[in-house]
Order: sequence, then C-alpha cells, then structure tokens
Amino acid sequence: MKLLLFFICLSTSVSIAQTQKPAAKPATAATKSPGQLVYEQNCLTCHQVNGSGVPNLNPPLRKTDWVLGDKTRLINVVLKGLQGQEIEGDVYDNAMPAHDFLTDTQIADVLTYIRSSFGNKASGITADEVKAVRK
Ligand code: HEC
Repeated sequence: MKLLLFFICLSTSVSIAQTQKPAAKPATAATKSPGQLVYEQNCLTCHQVNGSGVPNLNPPLRKTDWVLGDKTRLINVVLKGLQGQEIEGDVYDNAMPAHDFLTDTQIADVLTYIRSSFGNKASGITADEVKAVRK
C-alpha cells in the first residue's frame, strides 16, 4: 500500500516536473527489491526477465502450480534443483541446478518475488520456512 502511494506521488511529481521543465531528466527507476536482485543474479538467464522461460528449455514461472502451490515443494526446487518433471503439460530439456548456496533469506526473498511477479499473486515465503525445509 505504501509502495502504491509512493508510485502515485512519484508519477504526480514527475508529471508536474515535466509540465514545468520539459527538458527534465526522466525519474530514476524505483529501487529493486532484494528478491528481484537475487532473481537477476541467479535465475534470470534461464527463466528470463519476465518469467516467460524459454520454450523446450526452461519453464515459465507464470502461474504454474509449482510457483503458486505447495511452499515446501517450491523451496525444494531451489534447494535441490529439478529435472525430468512435467510442468503444466510440457517437458524441458534443461535441468535446473541446485541453489543451496543461497542463504535462507535470499531464497525466501527470491521466492516471495516470483510469487508476486509475472502476474502471480501468492503469499510470501519467510526465511524460517526455508530453514525448516533445508534441515
Ligand atoms: C540453468 C538454468 C536455470 C536456472 C539458473 C534456474 N532454473 Fe529454475 N528451472 C530450470 C529448468 C530447466 C526447470 C525445469 C526442470 C524440469 O524439467 O524438471 C526449472 C524449474 C523451476 C521451477 C518449477 C517449474 C516452474 O516453472 O514453475 C521453479 C519454481 C524454478 N525453476 C525457479 C527458479 C528460481 C527461483 C531460480 C533462481 C534461484 C531458478 N529457477 C534458476 C532452469 C533453471
């Protein structure tokens, strides 16, 4: 909610600035969430910036049952990797490597990010939930 207000304020002030000074520089991009940064460094090359995946190689992260469904199964995808699974009726040639080198907080952040991006609307995941699955 605060974020929404922030964006409203930002766009209002931008439009005011633009009416006053047509040559004003565009506003700097909004700060990225920690989860987005983890995503960009560890997941983006395969799953793409918009979660679309790559046909036949890497599955999309948009509204799949894996992303939106059971949290334990989702956490295990990141901790242990995945291969040979059917995802929403399709199979993929690539294998997903284990990402157990990420901290509990990084995994919680990135999973919270993908569950609320690319059109997904699912609850967040906490570092404690990741910790419980890891041990
Ligand atoms: C080297 C490429 C690669 C990287 C890097 C990668 N993945 Fe994957 N991911 C895959 C592939 C391939 C599959 C499907 C595996 C299969 O066929 O069983 C997959 C499956 C998944 C799935 C379950 C299926 C779905 O589409 O919903 C999730 C969730 C997921 N990855 C999230 C992530 C996250 C989060 C990261 C970063 C921490 C990440 N992946 C990094 C290739 C990758």
